Amino acid sequence: MKLTKEEEILLEGKKGYVLQKAMELLVGLGECFSADKMIPISSVLFIGSDTQSTGKYTKKYIKDIASTGAKFIVPTFSDIGAMDICDWKEFGFSLEQYEDHKALSDAFANMDGFLCFTCAPYLIGHTPRMGEHIAWGESSAVIYANAVLGARTNQESVFTQLASALTGKTPNYGYHLVENRRGTVKVIVDTVVRGCFNYHTLGFHVGKTVRDEVPIFTGIPASITRDELVSLGAALATSGGVTHYHIVGVTPEAPTEKNASGGNKITSSYTYKVGEREINATQESISNATFKDIDVAVFGCPHLSIEQIKKYVEILNGRKIKTGKEMWLQASHVVKQYAKDMGYFQILKKGGVKILSGVCSACFPGSLMHQKGIKVVATDSAKLSVYTVENQNLICLYADSKEIIDAITTDV
Ligand code: F3S
Repeated sequence: MKLTKEEEILLEGKKGYVLQKAMELLVGLGECFSADKMIPISSVLFIGSDTQSTGKYTKKYIKDIASTGAKFIVPTFSDIGAMDICDWKEFGFSLEQYEDHKALSDAFANMDGFLCFTCAPYLIGHTPRMGEHIAWGESSAVIYANAVLGARTNQESVFTQLASALTGKTPNYGYHLVENRRGTVKVIVDTVVRGCFNYHTLGFHVGKTVRDEVPIFTGIPASITRDELVSLGAALATSGGVTHYHIVGVTPEAPTEKNASGGNKITSSYTYKVGEREINATQESISNATFKDIDVAVFGCPHLSIEQIKKYVEILNGRKIKTGKEMWLQASHVVKQYAKDMGYFQILKKGGVKILSGVCSACFPGSLMHQKGIKVVATDSAKLSVYTVENQNLICLYADSKEIIDAITTDV
């Protein structure tokens, strides 16, 4: 790799041990992928902020780096945390778990990291521009940044993110290169898809089919909303390893099909048709429970926008959650505050709905969910369904939010 003078200085350890190790890691990574050089990045979305999924030695590694006085030199935002710091006790977390969370958050903040605790930082102003190089983790945010914003990032790990946040660099490979961003398979959507739930299902089906290719969608209307794009991307990245996609006439790198593929011809064996039949079959394959079994309904994977919270208020329509059932909405602290200012929070609370902020239920320890008597989770997110079953050993009902809410609420 060709390094600049400044990068050579870091690599030689002339700016200290921590920066030397960070640069060594990035150079090693770059060499693995035959990167020609380092490139500057403008932000990092850091996935090591959740004490449940981050292992004990990784947590120690983060805290050790912070204890040296090291600082991030580009804006670095935290992904979700392990608990909602406003009601961790009431929710059933122990003091020990809270202290673990606080120690990791303090270490991150001491390095000048921003404690935004969300997997949807683009909803609260952390929005990279088209063509900007970034080093983000969290698959739903990575695919949104690549496909919808036109920013450029690979799916980073805790260690590469720390190294990039400290040095402001990442190796020039993968989705930073134009040639890897071109569409490689074509997906013809042969039915009208509307609403976040149906886009989750479409994404899950296509991700399973195309694996780690870069799909080019046709047949999706230009009226697709931001929240639907978020749902589509989150699901594509769950069932497959999709990190980037194009929708002709919608996403910024795909004004035409030719732009999306970079002029490369896509053969019929790389073309898939998706209709109502595939979407219905996918929905059935994810769901494993019935409406009467629901213990808790969880919406907000990825974290909700204020528009989505308003939609849940409208669906609830003054009804209350039945005794023995629960409903949780997941959002960032910022969006929760916004919901309070708008009066939505108060309406939801009256109906028995909780807004959990800064967290993700799929990252709660399975033992905590079992301890709360929760066996069946209902959600409208394909990603949350998969993680709930795999991470927490629970049963999942995957369905449209209106149907779920109708099943767990009393009449007005
Ligand atoms: Fe976010 Fe958790 Fe879903 S991190 S994307 S709410 S699984």
